[in-house]
Amino acid sequence: MDLNEFSYRRNQLLGMMGEDSIAILPTANIHYRNRDATFPFRADSNFYYLTGFPEPEAVAVLIPERDQGEYILFCRERDPERETWDGRRAGIEGACEIYRADDAFPISDIDDILPGLLEGKVHIYYAIGHDQDFDQRITAWINQLRKATRSGMQAPMELIILDNLLHEMRLFKSNEEINTIRTAVRISAEAHIHAMQVCHPNIMEYEIEAGFLHHFFRQGCKAPAYSSIVAGGNNACILHYTDNNTSLQSGDLLLIDAGAEYDYYAADITRTFPINGRFSPAQKTIYELVLKAQLAAIDKVRPGNHWNDPHEAAVQVLTEGLVAIGLLRGEVNILIETEAYRKFYMHRTGHWLGMDVHDVGDYKIDGQWRSFEPGMVLTVEPGLYIPENCPEVGSQWWGIGIRIEDDILVTSQGCEVLTAAVPKTVDEIQNIVGTS
Ligand code: GLY
Ligand code: MN
Ligand code: MN
Repeated sequence: MDLNEFSYRRNQLLGMMGEDSIAILPTANIHYRNRDATFPFRADSNFYYLTGFPEPEAVAVLIPERDQGEYILFCRERDPERETWDGRRAGIEGACEIYRADDAFPISDIDDILPGLLEGKVHIYYAIGHDQDFDQRITAWINQLRKATRSGMQAPMELIILDNLLHEMRLFKSNEEINTIRTAVRISAEAHIHAMQVCHPNIMEYEIEAGFLHHFFRQGCKAPAYSSIVAGGNNACILHYTDNNTSLQSGDLLLIDAGAEYDYYAADITRTFPINGRFSPAQKTIYELVLKAQLAAIDKVRPGNHWNDPHEAAVQVLTEGLVAIGLLRGEVNILIETEAYRKFYMHRTGHWLGMDVHDVGDYKIDGQWRSFEPGMVLTVEPGLYIPENCPEVGSQWWGIGIRIEDDILVTSQGCEVLTAAVPKTVDEIQNIVGTS
């Protein structure tokens, strides 16, 4: 991403913070997987959103109107020996020259320097509650100033959760962000199409998953945006199934929920298709119902409509359909009121999408569902799940788990389905599955 984008974001936040304030943002911690092996490091989304700085052990500090510069970065120093083992570092010089910090200091000096930066500030912006260790360090720095008040030091008065300002910024995507999401979506869409083409009975779920990872990494992604769900037959009724270790059976459906993370932005796509390329009558009935609900939900995504409109539209279509095919009995309005549909549709219809797959941003404002506005990106992903041995349901419906998930950009006119390239109708799917 263009470095101007990060400068622009910092300036936007600095402009909103007000006088006598300071913002402190640590990046993510390194996490151990087992013994001394670590999980691949990925910067904290809020930290990265403002800095573009990819290394661990870093803290960004923003101080409006500071004479020596408003953006301070604490990071690791250059160290030829450590760099031989662990990889290159930008160092203090790189923090300023490459990443445009006004001032940079070694992270090892933060305990000496940060109390001085806090001194005289009235408001501290900090996302308390995410990292207990860092919370304690912030407390220690403030206490250090409190103890020194008799010698004229002034300790900060107010701690403000930084998330409120930052998450509102992150909710509205710039053109550059939308282009990055488009790339994540393109890569993910190609992988879904490939999975449909190569799928055949008796292939293992993990072989399909491997195709996704292969394609993501070949296209320059560092990781999937979340653990891929490759769920054959009844496994699709486990919403977060990630074992991916079962053989796929002719006659079953395959649900794949997989998306790439490209340059820190996520795609999130689900498709469900028959492993042998032909929907059974029962599978087709449920599939077409979910598709009808998804199209009705997408139709509600436009400026002026509110966040819950797509969910309400999906619930209406699904409940009517479940009654029509005899899976629910009773009055549609009452079944919706009593949430009877939750027996088969137990999640919501979508979420914001961005740097985090379940991205930040409030869904309600002052207790009311918020309205869609251009630049927001969300998923629309209704589903129906009828597990094996589901009581009071005919056995022809058992083991059918279907979700259809697209990524949607709100535009001034309505919306754009970013993931439209992935086949979705019954005919499109039957024409592609197993063709290579
Ligand atoms: N892949 C997670 C979700 O669809 O929300
Ligand atoms: Mn999703
Ligand atoms: Mn998903």
